[in-house]
Amino acid sequence: MTIDLAALPHDFLWGTATSAYQIEGAVAEDGRSPSIWDTFSHTPGKIAGDDHGDVACDHYHRWREDIELMRRLGTNAYRLSIAWPRVVPDGDGPMNPKGLAFYDELVDGLLAAGITPSVTLYHWDLPQTLQDRGGWPERATAEHFAAYASVVAERLGDRVTHWATLNEPLCSAWIGHLEGTMAPGLTDLTAAVRASYHLLLGHGLAAQAIRASAADAEVGIVTNLSTVHAASDRPEDLAAARRMDGHTNRWWLDPVHGRGFPADMRELYGVELPEQPGDLETIAAPLDWLGLNYYFPATVTDDPTGPVPHARAIRRPDVARTGMDWEVDASGMETLLLRLTEEYGARKLYVTENGSAYEDVVRPDGTVDDPERQDYLVQHLAACASAARKGAPLAGYFAWSLLDNFEWAYGYAKRFGLVHVDYGTQVRTIKGSGRRYAEIVRAHRSRARDAA
Ligand code: FCB
Repeated sequence: MTIDLAALPHDFLWGTATSAYQIEGAVAEDGRSPSIWDTFSHTPGKIAGDDHGDVACDHYHRWREDIELMRRLGTNAYRLSIAWPRVVPDGDGPMNPKGLAFYDELVDGLLAAGITPSVTLYHWDLPQTLQDRGGWPERATAEHFAAYASVVAERLGDRVTHWATLNEPLCSAWIGHLEGTMAPGLTDLTAAVRASYHLLLGHGLAAQAIRASAADAEVGIVTNLSTVHAASDRPEDLAAARRMDGHTNRWWLDPVHGRGFPADMRELYGVELPEQPGDLETIAAPLDWLGLNYYFPATVTDDPTGPVPHARAIRRPDVARTGMDWEVDASGMETLLLRLTEEYGARKLYVTENGSAYEDVVRPDGTVDDPERQDYLVQHLAACASAARKGAPLAGYFAWSLLDNFEWAYGYAKRFGLVHVDYGTQVRTIKGSGRRYAEIVRAHRSRARDAA
């Protein structure tokens, strides 16, 4: 398979992505307070192997080495998240200078290596103190989020221009408050809908706060979307697919694009939104860019007695799957990039995450060759280029992930890294997929240079 590299802009951002709780460790150092993920991961039975992020990849101490890895991969961008409980340990109290100093140095280190930092303010690690006061189902959490965003933008805004408010609010709301398999682990539809509302409100308020503190800021939000197919042509299955599309895609995209919360989904949830005058305008603050996290498509069937949205994903036989049991379908990424362009008028798009977990085999000499991850990478990059060729304003791609890391409820059992991490020794080894990515980046760069 070839990637149509000529379709990608010359200044394309070639990045990798991580998030704070998944890699940093050092959970009790320099004034960091516990987040809901510390609480959740230390609750027996919630995480495979009862793993937790106490040490993770020890990135808090090894970030210089990790920047060196990015340099070796040849990447020119890095998507990181900031841990709210490091920066504002009480959630809404005073700023913790040591917490902010960590990110300050990290940003300087990235810039010195020629790597553009793309900063996400919330990748799921809500300070536990705010959860104790009700968490995202409460409006005050959105306001505290904006105050924290302003503290960070104030400090880093002279050097950071790429800002994302939230990572995957769907997971925070639906998986954290409805399905219960992510922090804070609730199974309560009212709480979930209220959380979804306040997350998006928090996005809008934080966007204002960032722009007020950092004049050059380009602000976006990171959404995880799926293509949704009906399992059959039965009207019931077609309606189920429409509901799943509403639950997964439209509920998040419509409000931030000024279309309000979809009426069909409001009716289905039957939960009154905690709306106040002006909120919808705040949520719909114009985006400088939109981030797509894409992993897999969904095929659904009607499930009238099952949980909201009464649509159940079926397992299609005879299709390739990753180690997460997620279906491999790169065409879904192209479809979504074009949908965001055509239906939502996206001005600038980034693939902010995309990647795959497979069982990695470490050879006796320590090397890891990962042909399946390489195929996944190439197929999805080809889909990106094809979308760009058809007009999607795609400005960058961030591979998930730089490092193997703490994969939430799956603990350390699932490895997404382009770089292998030996958790016993913290030795990092670039995998075959990392070398492949480096080659692709190099090829694009030399083509861009020749064209210039
Ligand atoms: C996404 C998350 C990211 C990582 C990947 C595999 O949903 O944003 O942190 O866990 O999935």
